[in-house]
Amino acid sequence: MNQPMMEGLRLNVPAYVKHQRLIAWVAEIAALTQARDVYWCDGSQEEYDRLCQQLVDAGTFKKLNPAKRANSYLACSDPSDVARVEDRTFICSQKKEDAGPTNNWMAPAEMRELLQTGDKALFKGAMKGRTLYVVPFSMGPIGSPIAHIGVELSDSPYVAVNMRIMTRMGKAVLDVLGDNGAFVPCVHTVGAPLEAGQADVKWPCNKTKYIVHYPETREIWSYGSGYGGNALLGKKCFALRIASTMGRDQGWLAEHMLILGLTSPEGKKYHFAAAFPSACGKTNFSMLIPPKAFAGWKVTTVGDDIAWIKPGADGRLYAINPEAGYFGVAPGTNTLTNFNCMASLNKDVIFTNVALTDDGDVWWESMTETPPAHLIDWQGKDWTPAIAKETGAKAAHPNARFTVAATNNPALDPDWNNPAGVPIDGFIFGGRRSTTVPLVTEARDWVEGVYMAATMGSETTAAAAGQQGVVRRDPFAMLPFMGYNMADYFQHWLDLGKKLADSGATLPRIFCVNWFRKGADGKFVWPGYGENMRVLKWMLDRVTGSQSGEEHVFGVTPRYEDLNWEGLSFTKEQFDVATRIDKADWAAELKLHDELFAQLAYHLPAELPATKAKIEQRLAAE
Ligand code: OXD
Ligand code: MN
Repeated sequence: MNQPMMEGLRLNVPAYVKHQRLIAWVAEIAALTQARDVYWCDGSQEEYDRLCQQLVDAGTFKKLNPAKRANSYLACSDPSDVARVEDRTFICSQKKEDAGPTNNWMAPAEMRELLQTGDKALFKGAMKGRTLYVVPFSMGPIGSPIAHIGVELSDSPYVAVNMRIMTRMGKAVLDVLGDNGAFVPCVHTVGAPLEAGQADVKWPCNKTKYIVHYPETREIWSYGSGYGGNALLGKKCFALRIASTMGRDQGWLAEHMLILGLTSPEGKKYHFAAAFPSACGKTNFSMLIPPKAFAGWKVTTVGDDIAWIKPGADGRLYAINPEAGYFGVAPGTNTLTNFNCMASLNKDVIFTNVALTDDGDVWWESMTETPPAHLIDWQGKDWTPAIAKETGAKAAHPNARFTVAATNNPALDPDWNNPAGVPIDGFIFGGRRSTTVPLVTEARDWVEGVYMAATMGSETTAAAAGQQGVVRRDPFAMLPFMGYNMADYFQHWLDLGKKLADSGATLPRIFCVNWFRKGADGKFVWPGYGENMRVLKWMLDRVTGSQSGEEHVFGVTPRYEDLNWEGLSFTKEQFDVATRIDKADWAAELKLHDELFAQLAYHLPAELPATKAKIEQRLAAE
């Protein structure tokens, strides 16, 4: 260990930090990375404003016109650093089979040599010329018995300010941690050391990237990227990949799910948790405004991306949102698709990779019906509608993001910060499928629901680097976020359901939805967005036992007359296109389920092939 770095002064340890193990670890990482200095984030507004100004001075942030978007900034990334890098994401468990066939794996010793200990280890000297920011954060309300604490050491001030929005961050977390509390150590570098006199760039990153998780020691090491999903380590890395392994060991669930409250005109409140893959509308669904026909009904947001779900003393499942903000996809968001989200974005926002208007505001595709006559696109180039028509250039990157505090959301659920969480009445799983999968189906029981979630397929989106629009299996919308063997995770869901059922608890109902089915004209059949309330209401009626449906090959579906159509012209023919179960399509679909099961054969719960056999029998009997 580098002794001079151990001296309190060089480490700049604030007097309120009493945790010797934390201080020693910060010293160790500062020595390894040869950071220029160390700064401990206190999480204050003054600090946030100061770091944002520093980012403005460095050219990373552009301050937006305060008359248009108060206290808001735009960052444009390096063009190569715009999304999660799934092929560079590793689960380094001791045994390869514990990572399972859906994850990249490397032996921990080998990875540590590459990152930390080898002669050319990537983290050695990686922060030269940069400040190491110590970012203490709590996933979940500070001090809550279901919250967990992490500390991220990062050389990116962009990370520090985003973490202040996305998590409960700063001194208050260290106060809870005390002198010996447990925390998940997270180390992040953009991987762009600065030699003496070398000028910095606006968005430092490295073409080599490693997003690494050690599940047994609960550590995260991220190298080379500044993009949120790779760099804000509380989110995907901790709250999903590491937390999923904690959940497996401790009997709870860490899920890629929004959580919403649904209140009836009589004031009765229900809660749903819904898993859709990245960029498939979780934020929109969690902020839905019901159409006029549903006067008196209200949807409120508990969370838009991640749920930690634990059995309560009454046997019900309770969910908390471990995050404190939204890191959402901007393109496609407008006052019609998500009014509440647009209202959340009026002030105090960090935008990444959207376009800049001539009057210092932001714009992205479909934000307004008529695009501005001139913009600076996310890559800093002139953009006009004519250029877009000629070259196809996008003003905003398709995975452009906003970072905003949950408290900006006018539809925020009063229980969003409740340390006890909210009781879940139904789980919803949905992929992006142009064919095959009907608008909505209810599983006949927990095992069939687990089958539906496990075999879910979805067309890939811009949220991850790689080809878009190809159908891949995305079990539970967790494919990129599983911290352990996917087959063991299926078993964990089955075991939890059995345990709750054996205790006499009423399990949440499980539904499968598909908002994205297309007609023969190639257009979406279902209008989606606020109209999804019609489907949500049917699901609620199934939960309360007041609505019927029709048994099918694949669960129970509503008949046309089971949905409230008031105020929407949607014909029975259109409904048939959105809900049809085509025998040939399903025979092909089931072959893809077979492929998934073959891939996950090791430890695959027997209940899943058995459920498939039942579906096949029903299909043959149709
Ligand atoms: C996200 C994602 O950023 O799923 O939430 O990619
Ligand atoms: Mn997500």
